[in-house]
Amino acid sequence: TKQTGYTALDYGFVNTAATRSAITYIDGDQGVLRYRGYAIEDVAANSTYLEVAWLLIYGELPTPSELSEFEERIRRHTLLHEDLRRFFDALPHTAHPMSVLSSAVSALSTFYEGSLSVRDPEQIEISTIRLLAKLPVIAAYAHKKSLGQAFLYPDNSLSFVENFLKLNFGTMAEPYEVDPVLSKALDRLLILHEDHEQNASTSTVRLVGSTEANLFASISAGINALYGPLHGGANEAVLKMLGEIRDSGESVERFIERVKNKEQGVKLMGFGHRVYKNFDPRARLVKQSADEVLEALGVQDPLLDIAKQLEEAALADDYFVERRLYPNVDFYTGVIYKAMGFPTRMFTVLFAIGRLPGWIAHWREMNTDPATKIGRPQQLYTGAPARDWPQR
Ligand code: SDX
Repeated sequence: TKQTGYTALDYGFVNTAATRSAITYIDGDQGVLRYRGYAIEDVAANSTYLEVAWLLIYGELPTPSELSEFEERIRRHTLLHEDLRRFFDALPHTAHPMSVLSSAVSALSTFYEGSLSVRDPEQIEISTIRLLAKLPVIAAYAHKKSLGQAFLYPDNSLSFVENFLKLNFGTMAEPYEVDPVLSKALDRLLILHEDHEQNASTSTVRLVGSTEANLFASISAGINALYGPLHGGANEAVLKMLGEIRDSGESVERFIERVKNKEQGVKLMGFGHRVYKNFDPRARLVKQSADEVLEALGVQDPLLDIAKQLEEAALADDYFVERRLYPNVDFYTGVIYKAMGFPTRMFTVLFAIGRLPGWIAHWREMNTDPATKIGRPQQLYTGAPARDWPQR
C-alpha cells in the first residue's frame, strides 16, 4: 500500500489454497503431532524408523511380513554403484556434508535413467527403495570423506540403523561393535524427524515434484531447503551457539539479554516455530532422550547444562512467552548427536535421513492425486503501476 497506494483487496487478493494431505496432523496451539493419526509419543515409543516409513508412505502400519519384506528390499539395495563411490573423489574433504548429500542424490538419478517415471507405480517403487537404501550410505560416505577415512561397504547382516552407525564409525582396521543404546536412541530420533506436514523442505519437494520432476530431483531440492539455519540447519546452529556461550564464558542471562536486544541479529537457535506456538512435542521427547543417552554413554556435556539453563531462562522471560517461543525439535538433538560421536556438520544430514520418508510420502501423495496442478504460488504485485516509456 505504501509504495503503490493499492491494497491487497484492490487486487482481489485470494488466499492461496492450503495444501491437502492425509499424512501428518499438527495442532500448533495444543502441541499435537500425529503420523497417519497416531500420536508421536506412541509412535516414538513403539516403532522403528522403517516401520514408520512404511506407515507414512503406504498409509497403514505394515504387517510383520510386509515389514520384513520391506527391510529386505532396502537391504538388497544399500550398495552404491562403484562410479558413484568415485563421485566423492571429485569433492574436497572440506565439503559440507549437506552439499555432498544433495549433489550425490541428484547424481544418483543418473544411474536409473529409464526408471525415473513419475507415473509408473513400479518405477516409483524403484526410486523409493533406492533412496531409502542409499541415502544413509551417501551420508556416511560424506562423513568418512570429511575424515579422510576409507569408505566401508554396507553390512547387510545388520539392521538399518546399526548398518548406518557402522558405516560412520567402523574402520577397516578393526571390528565394530554396535552399541544398542546408540542404535535405539538414533532410531528414535530419526522417527521424530520423519515428517512434519508442509514445512519448508517438504513444500519444496512437493513444488518441484508438481512439475513432474523425478523423485531424486525433488528430494535433492528438499535437502537444499533443509540446509538453511532457519530450518534443519538449526540443529547445527544450536551447537555453535552453545559452544560460543561456553567458550566466551558469557552468562546465560547475558546471552538472553543480547537475544532480546536483537544484537547483530542474534537468535536463540532451536527456539520458535512457524506452527507450534506452544511446546513442540518432539522437543520434549528429545530432551528426555538427551538425559538417557548421555547417562547411558557416561557422557557429561556442559553444553547440555547450558541448553537447559537457556530453556529455563527463556521460558521464565516475558519476551519469549509473549512471542510464544518454545524449544523446537532442533534445540536438544545436537547434544545427543555430539555424544554419539557425529561431527556438528553431520547433524542436518541426520535430519535429512529422518525426513526422507516424509518427503517421499508427500511426493507420492501429490503425484497420485489427480487434482494436483503444477505449483504456482500467487503473487501480490506491489511494484509501479503502468507508466509510459520516458522520451530520451
Ligand atoms: C524446523 O516448519 C516446520 O515444521 C519446521 C520443522 C520441521 O520439522 O520441518 O519443525 C523444523 O525448522 C524447526 C525450526 C528450526 N529453526 C530455528 O530454531 C531457528 C530459530 N528460530 C527462528 O528463526 C524462528 O523462530 C522460526 C524461523 C523458526 C519461526 O519464525 P516465525 O514463526 O516466522 O517467527 P517470527 O520470525 O515471525 O518471529 C516472531 C517474533 C520476532 O520478534 P519481533 O519482531 O516480534 O520483536 O519472535 C522473534 C522474532 O524476532 N523470534 C525469535 C526467535 N524466533 C522468533 N527471537 C529470538 N530467537 C528466536 N529463535
